[in-house]
Amino acid sequence: MFSARRAAFVSAKFSCRSGIIAEVPKVTFLPANETFEFESGKLPYKDHGLPESLLDVAMNFGFHLEHACGGSCACTTCHVVVKAGGANLSEMDDDELDRVEQAADFQLHSRLGCQAVVKGDVTVSIPEWNRNYVSEGH
Ligand code: FES
Repeated sequence: MFSARRAAFVSAKFSCRSGIIAEVPKVTFLPANETFEFESGKLPYKDHGLPESLLDVAMNFGFHLEHACGGSCACTTCHVVVKAGGANLSEMDDDELDRVEQAADFQLHSRLGCQAVVKGDVTVSIPEWNRNYVSEGH
């Protein structure tokens, strides 16, 4: 299928055997600087958050992104700040906006990892207050 952690410099698109050009978004999580890529529409759903959301991508590649509510837009533990490629995420709906505004360090480019669906290359940072969860593996 695809390797777990491929280098970030791989082309964003490739031709399938069918000749159809497939999108292969790259997702980078900071400050860990871990980059993962997948073929759009082919990522196995991990049952948390929206399919192909930042959380779904993280779970597929074994990268821990906290998700206390299981990805149902009911907490803010999956809060990330978009550093690049925000236009390559799904638009924020009212439910996500209402929830993410409650994040401890809500910022202009804040998103919920479980609700932001990846459409293209994107770089996000996990806020410092949430990194303890990451390092402790909660
Ligand atoms: S995991 Fe709770 S809102 Fe995203």
